[in-house]
Amino acid sequence: MMTQALYHEGMEYAEQNFLSEDASHLKVDKQLLRNRFNLDQKLVLDFGCGMGGMSLWYAKTWKCRVHGVDIDRHHIRIANDLKRRHSVENVTFEVRNILDNPLTEKYDFIVLNDVAEHIPLPLLKQMLAAMSMALATRGQVFISYPPWGSPYASHVSHVVGIPWCQFLPQAWLMKLIAKNNRPIVGDEEGDLIAAYKGLNHLTHAKLMAAVEGSGLQCVYRKSHSFLNWLPLMHDLNLRMPLLDYLVTKEFVLLKKQP
Ligand SMILES: C[S@@+](CC[C@H](N)C(=O)[O-])C[C@H]1O[C@@H](n2cnc3c(N)ncnc32)[C@H](O)[C@@H]1O
Repeated sequence: MMTQALYHEGMEYAEQNFLSEDASHLKVDKQLLRNRFNLDQKLVLDFGCGMGGMSLWYAKTWKCRVHGVDIDRHHIRIANDLKRRHSVENVTFEVRNILDNPLTEKYDFIVLNDVAEHIPLPLLKQMLAAMSMALATRGQVFISYPPWGSPYASHVSHVVGIPWCQFLPQAWLMKLIAKNNRPIVGDEEGDLIAAYKGLNHLTHAKLMAAVEGSGLQCVYRKSHSFLNWLPLMHDLNLRMPLLDYLVTKEFVLLKKQP
């Protein structure tokens, strides 16, 4: 059930993701997308679009058509309400499980923004294969996620107040989450405990194992860490044992295998 309070919290969160270039967890994503891609005239699939903040941002940033799909009806309700509030025409939202109801269009650009870490790995593998089938010949799949070693990968560090808390003894961590537990918008992951338990502990190696056999291949990878904010460090990819725990987001670009 979605209470009025949760609905308003969701609307506010999604609206901030749409309108603010500085929304902390999306700032790097937006910069990278703007600098690297031109989505004008493209058909974009925002897979796991949630409450639609980023879908609306793609639709506003480029002259593209955006199709947002998500399995959660509460998220899609908020996404549709936000679309109406801002009169954005070039985006549609839909509750859809692409394994039960396969995609029928060919997309130029498929985005999974903070989604891949929420899907059980065997299902993620099936979904990537389904996306490969729904990709235009020169299409691209862009995936961003916090790798499991990252300080915020637990999705609950902001409430328990401890970065990297996913590495605490699990019984202790569960008590900390339970103490701060609260409902969140969502059918599948209705509170913080369910959200934590739903994570697949994604790493680059696990993602590449899911990509294997999908008909897609990795053509670009960026590991964004705190150090990238320092002068001259913008292009650094921190991939060294221990230091890679400072990576906050991984970005991967996939294309169809020749
Ligand atoms: C953390 S949210 C990210 C939402 C959005 N991409 C964003 O950046 O704001 C993860 C979303 O993935 C969705 N999701 C999880 N499993 C899914 C699946 N199998 N198919 C479609 N969406 C899924 C969830 O319902 C949720 O809305």
